Formats: sequence, C-alpha cells, structure tokens
Amino acid sequence: MRTFFIVLFCVVASVIAQAQARPQSDIIPQPQELQFLPGTFSLPKDITYTLSVDKGTAQVLPSLLTEYLGSKHKLKQKRKEGIILLNNSNAIENEEGYELRISDKQIVIEACSAQGFRYALETLRQLQGDNNTYPQCVVKDRPRFSYRGVMLDVSRHFFPISYIKSLISEMARLKFNRFHWHLVDGGGWRMESKYYPLLTQKAAYRTEEDWDKWWHNRDRRFTTAEEGYGGFYTQEEIKEVVQYAMNLGITIIPEIEMPGHSNELIYAYPDLLCPSATHNNATDVCIGNEEVFTFFERILDETMELFPGKYIHIGGDEAAMNHWGNCPRCKQRMKEENLKDLHELQSYMIKRIERYLNSKGRKLIGWDEILMGGLAPDATVMSWRGENGGITASQAGHDVIMTPNNNLYIDYYQNEATDEPRAIGGYVPLEKVYNYNPTPQSLNEAEKKHIIGVQANLWTEYIHTPEHASYMLFPRILALAEIAWTAHERKDYNDFRRRATHYLPQLEERGHKPYQMNGITLHQSYDSVQKAVVLKFQPERSDAVIRIAEGYSPTVLDKAVDTQTPYIYKGKSPRDIHVNLFANGKKLLPNDKIYRTPAHLAIGAKITYHCKWNERYPAAGENSLIDGLYGTPTYLDGRWQGFTEPMDMTITLAQEHKLQGVELRFMAEREQWVYMPKTVEVQISKDGTNYESIGILEPKTSDKNPRPVFETFTFSTDKEARYIRIKATIGRSEGHFIFCDEVVVY
Ligand code: ACM
Ligand code: ZN
Repeated sequence: MRTFFIVLFCVVASVIAQAQARPQSDIIPQPQELQFLPGTFSLPKDITYTLSVDKGTAQVLPSLLTEYLGSKHKLKQKRKEGIILLNNSNAIENEEGYELRISDKQIVIEACSAQGFRYALETLRQLQGDNNTYPQCVVKDRPRFSYRGVMLDVSRHFFPISYIKSLISEMARLKFNRFHWHLVDGGGWRMESKYYPLLTQKAAYRTEEDWDKWWHNRDRRFTTAEEGYGGFYTQEEIKEVVQYAMNLGITIIPEIEMPGHSNELIYAYPDLLCPSATHNNATDVCIGNEEVFTFFERILDETMELFPGKYIHIGGDEAAMNHWGNCPRCKQRMKEENLKDLHELQSYMIKRIERYLNSKGRKLIGWDEILMGGLAPDATVMSWRGENGGITASQAGHDVIMTPNNNLYIDYYQNEATDEPRAIGGYVPLEKVYNYNPTPQSLNEAEKKHIIGVQANLWTEYIHTPEHASYMLFPRILALAEIAWTAHERKDYNDFRRRATHYLPQLEERGHKPYQMNGITLHQSYDSVQKAVVLKFQPERSDAVIRIAEGYSPTVLDKAVDTQTPYIYKGKSPRDIHVNLFANGKKLLPNDKIYRTPAHLAIGAKITYHCKWNERYPAAGENSLIDGLYGTPTYLDGRWQGFTEPMDMTITLAQEHKLQGVELRFMAEREQWVYMPKTVEVQISKDGTNYESIGILEPKTSDKNPRPVFETFTFSTDKEARYIRIKATIGRSEGHFIFCDEVVVY
C-alpha cells in the first residue's frame, strides 16, 4: 500500500513537473507546426556545423550562421557530424519553408533555399532560453503567403537611411520579405535622379514641415535644403539599402507614383502639366504629352537600375483628373486612341508603362484604381479601398496584394483617439489587424491563389519622427506578420497578445518605442432574459488586469474583470463605470476610461423612423439606436447609424413611465466629413399626438478638432410619457454625416 502511494506520488509529481516545464512558444509569427519534446538542449560555446547543401547556399550559410550565432559562439565548419546540421532537402517544397529539429544532441535544419535556412535560424533565435538552452522540439514551417510586406511613406515626412535599415532589420526578424518604399509623392521627391536633377534640387525640401499648414495652404511651395524641410536619398544610399535588405532576405519594391500624386514632380518640371494647370491646382501629369512618357521611362530606367527586384510599383491611385478633360493634348490622345473617358485615358498610360516595364523583364504593381478604365494585362493589384478591387482583380486572373485601409492602414488610430498622438483618423487596433483574413470567402480556390499576399501601409502625414513611426508600426506589424505567415486556423489572438507583450521589451532594447498595448477591448451584449447589459473587457497586454468601479476611480482592491468574468449591469438608468489597467500593483493609465452603461427603458421598445438612415451606414437597422449597445471608437463598427438627412424618429415604450431623462450620443470625425448635429431636440408625449419639447441642444464640442470626438446630449425631465420623439439636424452642410449610436431613455 505504501509503495503504491509513493509510486502514485511520483507519477503525479512528474506529470505536474512536466506540465510546468512544457515551454510555450513565444515565436512571432507562429510556425505552422511546432511540437515541443521533453528536455532542453544546451548549445556549447564552441559550435561545429556541417553543411550538406548546394554550392550557392553553401556560400551564404557561414555568414548567416555568424549573423545569428556569432555573437555568443565560436563557429567552425566540420565535414561530418557537426552539432548543427544544415541539409538541403527535397521534402521541403516551399521555397521559404524549413524544418528544424532540436534533440538532446544536435540541431538539424532542412531547407531548400538560403531564405528557408534564414527563417529556421530566426525561429531558433526566438526559441532561445537562458544560458543558450533551447527546448527540444520539431518545427515544420512554411509561409501562408509569398508576399509579406510593409510600406513606408517617406514623402509626407522624410526618414533617414539609418531608420529605414532598422525597420528592415525588424521586418526580417518577423519573416517579412517585401519592403514597399513609397519614395515619391506630393510631399517631396526622395530619390536622386541623374536625368532629372531638378526633382531633388527643387522638390525635396518644402517650405513648411507641418503637413496641415503646408498641404492645406494650397500654395505648396518647395525651397532649398538650407531653408526647407525634407531630404532625399542619393543613388549610392539607395544601393546600400537595397543590398542591406537583400542580405536580410527582403526585396525592396520602389513606388514611382503616376499619373496623380505628382505635385512635387510638376513643381520641378511644370512642362509636364496640362496647359491650363498649375502646381497648386493640379496633382496629375498630362497624359497627352509625349514628354511625360519620356520622363517616366527614364525615371523607371534609373529605378530599375537601383532596384533589381521583379516588381515596380507605379501608384495609379487618386488621380484628380481635373484638367485632362479640358486639355487639348489629352483630348487629342483620347481621340487618337479611341478612349471614351478619363479612366480609359489613365488606363492608357498604365498599360503603356506596363509594356515598358515588361520589355525590361519587370512586373507592374498599382493601387486598385488601375482597375478603372481597364486593367493592364499583367498587372498586380494592391487593394487598398477595401477588398473589392482585389476581389475583382483576382476573379479576372490577376495577382493581388491585400492592404485594405480599414484593417491594414496603420496610420489610423490604434487606441481611443483622446489618448493618442494625432493620427489621420480611422481606428485599427491590434486585434482588428490580427483578425484580418486576406482571402475573401467569396473567392473560389483558383481565385484565392491569386491573393499572393498582404501588406500594412504607414502613411506619414502626421508622423514626423522615427520614434513615432515605430510607435505606429509596433506591435501592429507583429500581427500582420502572423496574418502573412501563419495559417488562419492556427491563429489565436489570446495567445498572440501574450507573445506580443513579451516582444515589446525586445523592441525597446533595440531602440524602438512601440505602442505599449494599453488599449482595452470591449465586447458588449444585452441579455434580454436577465435584462442586463453584459460588458466583457479584455486588456491588450497579457500582463495587465482590468479593474472596475461604479462611479469612482478603481484601486487594486476593486473588482477585476475579464472575458470570463464580465461586468453585468442590471440598473434601469445609465451609469458611469470607471475602468483602469493594473500591472504589478500599479495603475497603468493616467486617466480612467469611463464607460457609460446604456441600460434604459427603451431597449426592445418600438421605434418608428420618419427619416431614412444613410444606406451605407445602417448599423443593425431598425433597433440599432435602442439595443443597449454603444458604438466603439469607429463609425465603421456596425453600431453607429449614419444620417445625411435630419434624424427624426419616435420611440414608443410599452407603457407610460415617469421619465428622468434622455441621452443621445453622437460622434464626429472632421477628417471624414462627420460632424455633430447642429441641434438635437427631444419631445415627449403621453398619447402620441400632443408632444412637448424637453429641450433643444447644440453641441458643446468644437468642430475644429481634427480627432474623432464623442458627445452625449443629455435632456432632463420629470414628466410621465410613453412616446419620445427625437429630432437632430445635419451638422455643417449638405453631404455631411451625423452618426448616432444610442438613444438612452430612463
Ligand atoms: C492610397 O492610400 N491612396 C493608396
Ligand atoms: Zn493634358
């Protein structure tokens, strides 16, 4: 009996020990297959390695091994039986795939290209524990997409070569393989040209750094390097960066914008404009002018000389097209080429440029506007205005890179705007990036194969410094890396939060200042059985706890909530709950987040619309405004109902109530033509015929604020009523939106 207990004890103890010792993967992006085995392997100070690979790979592997292991180990090649074995294997089918096996005696890596070996070594680096120990494991890995990219705009603000390199080196760690360098745009021309030196002499330094002051001034002048803001890269610097990236397995895709976004170019070379245009009323070059084609062919010659990769991006987005229609040369071109509209005129240019690139053995990428007027025969489409362009292009048999703005524009806010540096608008928090799936379900299998990859874009109108760029990039491009590499079914946001939280200090050690993941995700629902508002909170950081208090600032002693332990509110009137993040006994947010619980009498009541909501923003339709659910920081979340005509509706309660008040919440986002209503009125009635007004309010918030703004309009009463009539007028003028998320009656 005693022996039985001792044996049982040992078995239980060893099971517990194993469970405790089982390592978790901190790897980003998560490998496709990863199996930990019991035990670890210690890599000694002196390492021998054996290569059984093709000649080309054999030339690069020693320096690759030195790059990854050289700082801690002495490396020596051995003909046979080294501690690290690197083998070419026919079993690895994906060009970038690899297999990594760590046993108690050695590390075996199999791949079919230098890139595959690089990725295996990257994974090995991320598996490293204390004292050069590694968990024993088997990793079988390959990327989901062949194109895994990040774009940086260096025109709106200029970023030095040192920063470009540090970004590329971070990208390599995350197994990205494409850096899209947005080199030229209205904010300044950044690539030295020997053919057209005025581009950098005249249009690389603008008179004003501040984007709003410069861009909205309309004059948009450039000046000298001494007097202006900006910069450019010499051809030598560009070659250096291209080589640097290539050594890290990253191909750079240069973008030369045409025919729009060309303000800086036409400032330097005004002859490339349509005759009636000037640099401050036009953004496009003249497609009727042969000189324009000579210009771009020469610039592309120089570009191809500097950038050996297959793809050249030619922009193609957002041409204003405001002068072509009146330009004799453009009209002549349309006549000669039988082009029926301005889209076809643009398409003529893109197709002609594509022929030029193809004749030099290169491939063209353009933004999704290149679909309009007819897609160039071999073009790859970068879908940014949502996914529709990408869907159409892939159905037509074209390759597509998905970069939809509402998921992957990382110049958008990543947390509530009040707590963030000024951004361009929008709301793309970490979880939204992470949950994006680049292959639309509406595509069939053959069409899905045309989705060759994904990319996040960092436009820099409001990003002046490398520090700020890193703040916007990290950790969102960690999430992007996982979308790009890891199978959709293997993704797990909860686990990703943990890995991303661990990754932040590593980024800091390497000199970056990432966003600290101080956001809080809220999933709301209304439980109609319990008649309760249910709020499930989740911190972005995995090491933080959310504490909550009703009506005051929470302390470490207040209730902790998470997705398993929701906050349930059964009150009959709205109430402010204060929420903060705590880690190591400290409050993380200087200001509490205050959520108003929308419990109220009108949930489930009848609502009659005397107006129409805007068909693009129906939210959840009829009951949206009385469903007990507030919107999130973006009007794109399906909770905010949008109106372009005055709001007018009647809410009918099941019976008469003695009311205390009515609250309506609106949001404004000036940059998106969303304003507060000019006035909001609430009328109440007992019989549905005779109404009395309980107030007409005007907004208190300013319409000058460039950030998203939220305002609650509060009406008090102590009268009995069953019918509540809501009227809100459109804000600024025709065509502007108002957005309301809830009408709270209590
Ligand atoms: C873009 O954002 N205009 C591509
Ligand atoms: Zn013209």
